[in-house]
Amino acid sequence: MHTFSLIPGDGIGPEVTGAAVAVVEAAGVKACWERIILDPAQLQNREELIPQEIVATLRSTEATLKGPITTPIGSGFRSVTVALRRVLGLYANVRPVRTMPGVYSRYSDVKIDLVIVRENTEDLYVSIERAVDPNTVEAIKLITRPASERIVDFACQYAKANGYRHVTAVHKSNVLRLSDGLFLEAARAVKAQYPTLTYSEMIVDNAAMQLVVRPEQFQVMVMPNLYGDILSDLAAGLIGGLGLAPSANIGTQGALFEPVHGSAPDIAGQNKANPVACILSAAMMLDHVGEQEAAKRVRKAVDSVLEQREVRTPDLAGGKNTTKEMTQAIIEAL
Ligand code: NAI
Ligand code: MG
Repeated sequence: MHTFSLIPGDGIGPEVTGAAVAVVEAAGVKACWERIILDPAQLQNREELIPQEIVATLRSTEATLKGPITTPIGSGFRSVTVALRRVLGLYANVRPVRTMPGVYSRYSDVKIDLVIVRENTEDLYVSIERAVDPNTVEAIKLITRPASERIVDFACQYAKANGYRHVTAVHKSNVLRLSDGLFLEAARAVKAQYPTLTYSEMIVDNAAMQLVVRPEQFQVMVMPNLYGDILSDLAAGLIGGLGLAPSANIGTQGALFEPVHGSAPDIAGQNKANPVACILSAAMMLDHVGEQEAAKRVRKAVDSVLEQREVRTPDLAGGKNTTKEMTQAIIEAL
């Protein structure tokens, strides 16, 4: 019996997480789900954005499945997603991007199967900024050897565990000699411990171009936070939409799995959301807790429903079905 935390989130969150839970259960995985309601508006005036008892629950379960949470734009509103990252020490953000059968994209004629591994705790995202004078601001890009080694090691482990043979370290050390230079030094030291993997380095602007021109050349790509933020969105765009892109956040105090997309207020509550991104996130969670067989079956079921093109939500070309119908089709394919 597994124990999972379940954060339904808001907007389309409850619809897509509901679908994912139903699919996990249909895959025969026995689990107890701790439902956690996080209302960002109610949490704002607390000192700790995530209450201690919720942190304790999140840390006590094997993993967390999370739906999107709305972050209203406006001054001072703190992001619950960022706070979750902090309390669980989620240092690795993992976004697999692969060509989905039966889904049209600009790259339908090549087979893309790559994974972006993004360092999630430092770089410019430490958000240390300072106004030097009214016309000058500086921001700190923090890079440390332990965090760089940890993320590259994670990427190499991930490559080995998932049948990839090549790791590309992405950087800008030609300009940022000290900071990205340190990242690269750490990457070289770590990759030397993985003789069965091949390794290369690529400057980030070239990596952006190469992803667009010849994405099929990549397998596992590892990089500091900012580059990972940007290139992982670019990569998700290669395969035909947010409704299909899953992610994992792996940490020292837990692991959290969520679709890449947001709460989609324009279609929330209308039974229109594509559940696949959340279902594939749940499949990554199953892999993480040792249920690789079930995870594989879930991915196969998703692929077969997409490939048949009979049942699909409106975000996919020609789709007319509801979230529930698509979920049901995936469950039947299982
Ligand atoms: P979004 O991803 O919610 O929506 C962008 C567009 O994609 C919309 O047209 C939406 O209808 C469509 N879309 C997204 N997911 C879909 C799905 N599963 N099926 C079908 N169509 C889908 O991005 P947006 O509008 O920038 O953000 C909305 C809210 O979500 C914001 O408050 C934002 O802060 C929050 N957000 C939360 C995230 C999280 O909790 N991890 C991640 C990204 C955004
Ligand atoms: Mg981003």
